[in-house]
Amino acid sequence: MHLARASYPCIIHRSFQRSVQLALTQVSYPRLLPSQRIVPHFRNSSHQQRFFASSTPARQSYPNNMSSFFNVSRLHDKVVFITGASGGIGRATAVLFARFGANVIITARRQDVLQSVAEECQAANKEGKTGHGGKVHVAQLDMQQRSALDKVREDLPDWAKGKVDVLVNNAGLVIGVEKVGDISPEDIDVMYNTNVLGLIHLTQRFVTDFKKRGSGHIIQLGSIAGREAYPAGSIYCSSKAAVRAFTSSLLKELVDTPIRVSEVQPGMVETDFSTTRYRGDKAASAKVYEGLDALQSEDIAEEIVWIANRPPHVNVAETLVFPVNQASPYHNHRPGKKAA
Ligand SMILES: NC(=O)c1ccc[n+]([C@@H]2O[C@H](COP(=O)([O-])OP(=O)(O)OC[C@H]3O[C@@H](n4cnc5c(N)ncnc54)[C@H](OP(=O)(O)O)[C@@H]3O)[C@@H](O)[C@H]2O)c1
Repeated sequence: MHLARASYPCIIHRSFQRSVQLALTQVSYPRLLPSQRIVPHFRNSSHQQRFFASSTPARQSYPNNMSSFFNVSRLHDKVVFITGASGGIGRATAVLFARFGANVIITARRQDVLQSVAEECQAANKEGKTGHGGKVHVAQLDMQQRSALDKVREDLPDWAKGKVDVLVNNAGLVIGVEKVGDISPEDIDVMYNTNVLGLIHLTQRFVTDFKKRGSGHIIQLGSIAGREAYPAGSIYCSSKAAVRAFTSSLLKELVDTPIRVSEVQPGMVETDFSTTRYRGDKAASAKVYEGLDALQSEDIAEEIVWIANRPPHVNVAETLVFPVNQASPYHNHRPGKKAA
């Protein structure tokens, strides 16, 4: 006994704790079929050891491999409509949904970039080997144009028309760091038309469809900026506060329906977001992420896909997600980058 304990240090102990944890998780979801329960699947023993190790595994140790830990069959053949899918979080989300067997409609203004995202989605679907989903529809869409938002739904292919299960309202941007009094009216229009008015209009259209069908899920991209405003961000912060309030009303309005409403509020994510804020100045944008392991697009894509994959009786209303060295728009620590 003593020898066994000595030769298998804490792996057995943690493995045991984890098994108990998993058993408890499964007991607390008695309605799930055995095939839907969370069952870790390990590629090999070193993968298993990393999973049970107390220190955080390197971020890239199981890239896009969440299906090893979570059964994703609820996503199979679902139709997911994603705005702002030409870059950053939207792109990573489209690829992950496709990988897990969903069909995706990817939209943004840059159609050429969307074509390459479509190829990535198709490759990811093949790699995912679920045997489900894999259909991709590309639609050029400017969230500022209300008529285009209506048309994009009418122009969907048969497999998607009237059949969208999940709307990911991700398109959004910040322009400039000017303070109130110096902000150009054009920048205000672009931010509000995209982040708020476009999002509201598209949500209204889909809510009407979802109510008729008695199902659907709206996932909004909010931000820590919508909870805590900061100087030189008045327009962006207030636009995300509007998303938060709108989404909170919607959640309450739909409480007597099976329609789910979720808001993901990321902290700092290393995408083109800051390059847009600094009007293409890459050096200024790089400074934002200097010395700190910021979140990556895939981290937030995993949140979004995980939320969509919850059982129908579970609604993740809000998630606030920071890099480990960020605690608010003001509180961050820059010890130097560590993650590979
Ligand atoms: N990065 C962060 O730190 C962070 C933190 C909190 C929240 N967020 C939110 O996360 C969402 C995604 O941002 P990201 O970080 O992935 O930024 P990103 O890499 O700059 O991507 C933004 C996406 O939005 C699209 N977009 C912008 N304006 C649009 C418009 N008028 N019509 C249609 N699409 C438009 C862009 O595509 P086109 O240019 O091709 O149209 C692009 O695909 C945004 O809502 C953002 O506010 C980001």
